[in-house]
Amino acid sequence: MRLILLGPPGAGKGTIAKGIAEELRIPQISTGDILRKAIKQGTPLGKQAQKYMDRGELVPDPVIIGVLKERVAQLDCTNGFILDGYPRTVPQAVALDHAGIEIDKVLNFVVTDQTIIKRIVGRLTCKECGAIYHVKTIVPKVAGKCDHCGGALYKREDEQKETVRKRLRVYKKQTAPLIAFYRKKGILVDIDAEGTPEEHLAAVKRVLGK
Ligand code: AP5
Repeated sequence: MRLILLGPPGAGKGTIAKGIAEELRIPQISTGDILRKAIKQGTPLGKQAQKYMDRGELVPDPVIIGVLKERVAQLDCTNGFILDGYPRTVPQAVALDHAGIEIDKVLNFVVTDQTIIKRIVGRLTCKECGAIYHVKTIVPKVAGKCDHCGGALYKREDEQKETVRKRLRVYKKQTAPLIAFYRKKGILVDIDAEGTPEEHLAAVKRVLGK
């Protein structure tokens, strides 16, 4: 199955992708995670991406389209994948079409701006395995440590309130047009993402027939 998780920053794309990747036995492909890893390693891609990410802007289409095509060509994507954070512009979606990469379903997570701010400002991420927590809603068993691997939890550079507001503006202008793009193709399903993580995951599984 080839899935796209669409939704504003903080809608729960990463959380849900991790929740279903194992069950569907297909990889989660987070372009945000790929870029953050490149920044950490100081690669040319990381150096190029950092200034955009720190400002809450999108990395230019030609750069990210290249990254995505290279990733989905890898062996573990043979039976499908979950795209988390790609596409983010109409040209990125058109690039998938041009490459002959057909998508089965687009899950559009619907959530208010108020909820998004609360979620992102409270998010904690594991430095080692990328597991996602929240100071109030998805609390680690031991403060500051990952339940899965014991890695240190940190806050991302783009989680300040002002940067989050900027990312929301960018989402509405550049990414939200993808809702109409995929609705027209008849493969988009709206999912209420306001509920608890358990409610959100259950709604996604229902849509996937799991
Ligand atoms: P990226 O890493 O993709 O960030 P994002 O899409 O902005 O989304 P987030 O990771 O912030 O949120 P999420 O929806 O995954 O929510 P999460 O599950 O963490 O991109 C970062 C940057 O990289 C971009 O700004 C851009 O610069 C660049 N980039 C990436 N892809 C690109 C592309 N294709 N083109 C160009 N540039 C690109 O959940 C959020 C919090 O809420 C967590 O704390 C979680 O524990 C909690 N939570 C989750 N679900 C619930 C729930 N149901 N109830 C309560 N709490 C919940």
